[in-house]
Amino acid sequence: MNPRTPALVLGGTGYVAGELLRLLAGHPYFDLAAVASDSQPDEPVAQFFRHLQPVLPHLRFTDHEEILEYVTANPATAVFSAAPHGVSAALIDRLLTAAEQADAQPRVVDISADFRYSTVQAYEAVYKHAHGAPARLAEFTCAVPEHLNALSTPHVAHPGCFATAVLLASVPLLSLGLVEPRLFVAGITGSTGSGRGPTAGTHHPQRHSDLYSYNALAHRHAPEIAALAQAASGVEADFMFVPHSGPFARGIHVTVQAVLREELTSHELVHALRDYYDQSPFVRVGGEMPRLKDVVASNFAELSGVSNGRSVAVMCVIDNLTKGAAGGAVQWMNRMFGHEETAGLMTPAPGWT
Ligand SMILES: NC(=O)c1ccc[n+]([C@@H]2O[C@H](COP(=O)([O-])OP(=O)(O)OC[C@H]3O[C@@H](n4cnc5c(N)ncnc54)[C@H](OP(=O)(O)O)[C@@H]3O)[C@@H](O)[C@H]2O)c1
Repeated sequence: MNPRTPALVLGGTGYVAGELLRLLAGHPYFDLAAVASDSQPDEPVAQFFRHLQPVLPHLRFTDHEEILEYVTANPATAVFSAAPHGVSAALIDRLLTAAEQADAQPRVVDISADFRYSTVQAYEAVYKHAHGAPARLAEFTCAVPEHLNALSTPHVAHPGCFATAVLLASVPLLSLGLVEPRLFVAGITGSTGSGRGPTAGTHHPQRHSDLYSYNALAHRHAPEIAALAQAASGVEADFMFVPHSGPFARGIHVTVQAVLREELTSHELVHALRDYYDQSPFVRVGGEMPRLKDVVASNFAELSGVSNGRSVAVMCVIDNLTKGAAGGAVQWMNRMFGHEETAGLMTPAPGWT
């Protein structure tokens, strides 16, 4: 019997899918079986992702029919969706319906926003279109893996890149009751955060050597962050979120500021964060300010913080494509199949990118 589980990827030619393929190509327990592409079926994967040629020289993109065949022919498959929001839910619904009819039990991690909210109303209020599979919402839990020990649903919705970084920095502050529940967040993201399709605001000449905010206090992920922070900490908090476009390809840096409830030194703050993430293999808490180059292209997050006695600033860095998307999804899937959380994910950042 093969103890390895077939892994399937949707959203094939996207940046997140490319990162999933890189991680799955070397995974000890998942076998990358197929990757679906709407736009490039039958084309070699290495033609799109040339950096993956040494590890996936023969793999070709498939269509969704072939993905269905894998899902129905195997008792269990690990399905990762890196399709866009508004598309992902219907793709997953079709696949789960076919699996139910075949008595198969795939596990899904959706990296899009489609299953992040627990109600259709909450989703549609933010995304302004009908949800693609409302009856499936109850089958998904959305959480950063570090903030939920026991999963009670068959499937997971990954919280996304900005949310992962903001939540890693904020949830300990709220859970431990250290701060007032009003958090001011500045976040800077690299250009891969916008995906493969260039737009006027994300085009390289526009972003290169420049830094600017966008959707200040009105970013669509702010309500998701507040809902997930409450689920993880039990505290209802306001998040004042100002995202920025950074002049680099990969990585997210966030700074979360809040007013302290009681006096706390910087040393005590770092100590509290370190204790909080004591059992979290991917979160490193240090006294030095976190830097992107120490985490980019890895599944690690780095945190630090300072206090002036009245308020705190906590900084967090992650890679948006890895910890904020593909790596976080593999981390969840490891847990869903009973593997150690770190399987296939312990490669450190290159350090110089
Ligand atoms: N980029 C990040 O840092 C990041 C972080 C966290 C979460 N996410 C989420 O992860 C998902 C993938 O993000 P990404 O950055 O990889 O996006 P992307 O580069 O734009 O790729 C998305 C892929 O989805 C496929 N697709 C299927 N139906 C589509 C449709 N109707 N319109 C457009 N594309 C369609 C396309 O591949 P095929 O034509 O090959 O099917 C496309 O290449 C999104 O839901 C995004 O919100 C992204």
